[in-house]
Amino acid sequence: MRLEIEENFYLRTFSSDDKESLFDLIDSNRKQLGVYLAWPPKTKTSEDTLWFINETIKEAKNHQYTFGIFVDEILVGVCSYNFMNIQNKKTEIGYWLGENFQGHGHMTKTVKALVDYGFNHLKLNRIAIHCATTNKASSAVAKRLGFKLEGIARQNEVVNGNIYDHEIYSLLSSEVNS
Ligand SMILES: CC(C)(COP(=O)(O)OP(=O)(O)OC[C@H]1O[C@@H](n2cnc3c(N)ncnc32)[C@H](O)[C@@H]1OP(=O)(O)O)[C@@H](O)C(=O)NCCC(=O)NCCS
Repeated sequence: MRLEIEENFYLRTFSSDDKESLFDLIDSNRKQLGVYLAWPPKTKTSEDTLWFINETIKEAKNHQYTFGIFVDEILVGVCSYNFMNIQNKKTEIGYWLGENFQGHGHMTKTVKALVDYGFNHLKLNRIAIHCATTNKASSAVAKRLGFKLEGIARQNEVVNGNIYDHEIYSLLSSEVNS
């Protein structure tokens, strides 16, 4: 599946052909990604990336899409609907960008596209973003898009030896479509 954002800027689900480019992006950013994400140390080779891609293909059957973010045909990051729950009309969005591609608004536009698709096509009611209280770049994405802070989940995740409190943000369909 593919979601157009702007000219030469789109989201696309992965196929096995993406395993090398995705692994290379992870491998060249593993230090910064490992601060707030638990999985980079487990991604040791492109075969691990292929396993991940195959999981995303299975999850897409439940609309739990993971997309590569492509700018000028270059893979710059990844975003996903996590914990898709169609019955309760809700999901959570996760995201990351390679360091060289940060600071241009790509992720804010990407998450806006996931929000629009989630509310308008998947008919979701609630979309959440969870981020560590210290991850100001991530919470800024949520705030720019009008997500509301609901509270703090204390000591919610252990990431590579550090334990983080999480800010829980959410946006309801009535808050953007009314
Ligand atoms: C979270 C993460 C994706 C945010 O990246 P980002 O580049 O700050 O976010 P955006 O792509 O939306 O860009 C926003 C920046 O571009 C600027 N910008 C430029 N044009 C813009 C536009 N049209 N719209 C929005 N922002 C724009 C903003 O001012 C902001 O810069 P600032 O931080 O200096 O104010 C990134 O820090 C990351 O990948 N971190 C590691 C993984 C991670 O923590 N993931 C989240 C786990 S919860």
